[in-house]
Amino acid sequence: MSGTSLDGVDAVLAEVSMAGLVVRAHAHRVFSAELRAELLALNQAGSDELHRSARAGQALARLYADAVLDLGPLPSVRAVGAHGQTVRHRPELGYTCQLLDAALLAELTGLDVVADLRSRDVAAGGQGAPLVPAFHRAVFGQPGVDVAVLNLGGMGNLSLLHADGRTTGFDTGPANALLDAWVARHRGQPFDANGAWAAQGQVLPELLAAMQAEPYFALPPPRSTGRDLFDAPWLLRQPLAGAAPEDVQATLAELTAWSVTEALRSHQPQVREVIVCGGGAFNGDLLGRLAKRLPGVGFVSSADRGLPPMQVEAAAFAWLAHRFVHHLPGNLPAVTGARGPRVLGALYPA
Ligand SMILES: Nc1ncnc2c1ncn2[C@@H]1O[C@H](COP(=O)(O)OP(=O)(O)O)[C@@H](O)[C@H]1O
Ligand SMILES: [Mg+2]
Repeated sequence: MSGTSLDGVDAVLAEVSMAGLVVRAHAHRVFSAELRAELLALNQAGSDELHRSARAGQALARLYADAVLDLGPLPSVRAVGAHGQTVRHRPELGYTCQLLDAALLAELTGLDVVADLRSRDVAAGGQGAPLVPAFHRAVFGQPGVDVAVLNLGGMGNLSLLHADGRTTGFDTGPANALLDAWVARHRGQPFDANGAWAAQGQVLPELLAAMQAEPYFALPPPRSTGRDLFDAPWLLRQPLAGAAPEDVQATLAELTAWSVTEALRSHQPQVREVIVCGGGAFNGDLLGRLAKRLPGVGFVSSADRGLPPMQVEAAAFAWLAHRFVHHLPGNLPAVTGARGPRVLGALYPA
């Protein structure tokens, strides 16, 4: 798995059964500065994109292969579920694009590769995202209890595991992508560790209101988003003139917290436990803002519920590959808006 934050690739060795999933090993490989910059650039229109995308897909396959081989000896691995790098997400136009040379990944690992896991849901009229709610239900669901799972990656997404057994979910908006962009611009750091810099700033109410006016936040589900919308150009279009950089960072953190708590208020008001995963689970400032906005709700790390935050998303794609191998649907039409359940993925045999 490599997500929109563009921090690198997470791989897990997961033992999957119909009953659930156990992670046996985890590996992380960072993107080189060069590859990260190219992937970021490919999120925007540019010259010679076919050639550059093909080359980036090869580089991704090599890094994914390194991450898989880091997991140790893999004699009994049935398949690799490989997400690829999203560089365009346009479900309203009927496509989503995850770069990855899956043939090269099969060649380098000698394993069956299941890739392109989003396109079929989009072809069936869905958003192609989020795909993790079915997995969250399988590993974090509690019968008769309302639980939410919040993934704070580059973007944020919520899975709402309702007490009556229904599972819904959607993307909340930006989570880390804009925070990362702003701290990189002003302090040359890849991310704001623990949100310490945001904690030094003050939320700017007018700037926050301007950001909250973004129509995406008012869309009813199904909805999903990405860097197509929430990227540096979006941030630089906001009324930033005269604002202290740390105040902008605080305001961005508050925007993320607000987008999540408003979504919970609207769609699962009775929830008392929110399980947090993704890198944002390590951002104490952000977790503090969430808790302050929703007193009475516990925001707990996914590590306390059996899966460390940086393993959840990768485990979800192992689980989806297991679904593919057994010819079972991976999407939830109630989440993505697809016309029906679909088997997700394409096979590149070993
Ligand atoms: N210690 C930390 N403090 C604050 N933020 C962190 C920390 N560790 C990771 N992050 C954030 O998490 C992001 C990576 O999260 P991840 O779940 O991998 O997102 P994605 O799936 O989009 O790649 C980083 O870009 C960074 O913003
Ligand atoms: Mg990541």
